[in-house]
Amino acid sequence: MTRPRITVLGTGYLGATHAACMAELGYEVLGFDVDTAKIDLLRDGRVPFFEPGLEPLLEEHVHSGALRFTTDYAEVAEFGDVHFMATGTPQRADGLGADLSQVEAALTGLAAGLTRPCVVVGKSTVPVGTAKRLAGMLRELAPAGADVSLVWNPEFLREGFAVQDTLRPDRLVLGFDVPPTELNAGASGAGESGTTGAAARAEQVMREVYADTIAAGSPVVISDYATAELVKVSANAFLATKISFINAVSEICELVGADVTRLADAIGYDERIGRKFLNAGLGFGGGCLPKDIRAFMARAGELGAADSLAFLREVDAVNMRRRTHTVDLAREAVGGSFLNTRIAVLGAAFKPDSDDVRDSPALNVAGQLQLHGAHVSVYDPQANDVARRYFPTLDYTGSVEEAARGADAVLHLTEWKEFRAIDPAALKTIVARPVVIDARNVLDAKAWRAAGWTYRGLGRP
Ligand code: UDX
Repeated sequence: MTRPRITVLGTGYLGATHAACMAELGYEVLGFDVDTAKIDLLRDGRVPFFEPGLEPLLEEHVHSGALRFTTDYAEVAEFGDVHFMATGTPQRADGLGADLSQVEAALTGLAAGLTRPCVVVGKSTVPVGTAKRLAGMLRELAPAGADVSLVWNPEFLREGFAVQDTLRPDRLVLGFDVPPTELNAGASGAGESGTTGAAARAEQVMREVYADTIAAGSPVVISDYATAELVKVSANAFLATKISFINAVSEICELVGADVTRLADAIGYDERIGRKFLNAGLGFGGGCLPKDIRAFMARAGELGAADSLAFLREVDAVNMRRRTHTVDLAREAVGGSFLNTRIAVLGAAFKPDSDDVRDSPALNVAGQLQLHGAHVSVYDPQANDVARRYFPTLDYTGSVEEAARGADAVLHLTEWKEFRAIDPAALKTIVARPVVIDARNVLDAKAWRAAGWTYRGLGRP
């Protein structure tokens, strides 16, 4: 059997990484985007955002010719045997639900050119029920009709670890157009998992595409469409809940002078709980968790089950309170008013090792400080340029020292490794007042205090 040729529609964080990793796995890959500027960069082997380890991979495979990029749907349809859909599903402008316009546009653009049997693979995070509808659209719009199969294969990559998460995912979830009962029965079809007919053929193709990944030990979960769609949003809802849980406890810790970090260490030793994602602080942001829990709630409402996910509203509220609470702590630290104060903000990205500022807690706080009258100097090792596009009125600087010079308070808002290496004694000589708020609870409180700083963590005495 000849190796299937791969296409990837949408070249954002997910798609660009997926395209480069598929080339790394030995496939010929064609990436597509409607954004010509992005495609021009990618064609040069350059990544339009910061993601550790991605650019060398992309460069290598662009130069070898294995990885190419286009803005032409017809070329994509003609080239590919397996088409990955990796377009964005941002929050709708008019509500909490997901905006599916990019997914629908990509599917429509692709479908018109699908004249031979192929597999279309959805990777975007979508509300449950979407895959079934998209499969119907494909049958209607693709000239090859029923010879085009749709598989739902949600993506769990974390920014900052995108390459390793794509090459060696924790699990591969593959959702097919089959009733779950068929899978449960383990029917004797062609597919390893009890899928039959077109679904079995699609399963075979997917197992071949991911052969190396499966051989390296990533478990495969086969399911129906709805389960596959729900796996993704449930995973993100669980992670968001875990973070907001510890942040809610952190609010109580503050009231009684307890230490949430020690508490998290202690409960984290229980394997049923686990220490990961129990870091209290400024809370979660980014292009996934916030919009995914909102879209999940919106979908539950449409299904008449708003009560089932009502707790996610509280998860969201706890998370948003972290931002105002950090602003309140800063206000207290500068004597009750931001007027005529200088605040240094360390970090703008929503998390370290990323230049993504979508719904970034750090940038949100920086913006609030400025709107309350402070002069805000921001420094982020990678995200200054992207942040400037979103929030152009803040003062962006090229180093910790530049940001901190003359500051009445230093706010540590994104936990880049570089910030843990700051020498508090040296920094003290250039600020106006040695006050630091560590909104990620990772600086060495003892060392900062020993150097003469007033150190304040979140949820810690
Ligand atoms: C997340 C999921 O982890 C990933 O599986 C999914 O595919 C996409 O969404 P990502 O958005 O890249 O990935 O970031 P993640 O590492 O999950 O962090 C999300 C946010 O939570 C960040 O703002 C981070 O700072 C915050 N966080 C994380 C905490 O506040 N505390 C923690 O303990 C962990």
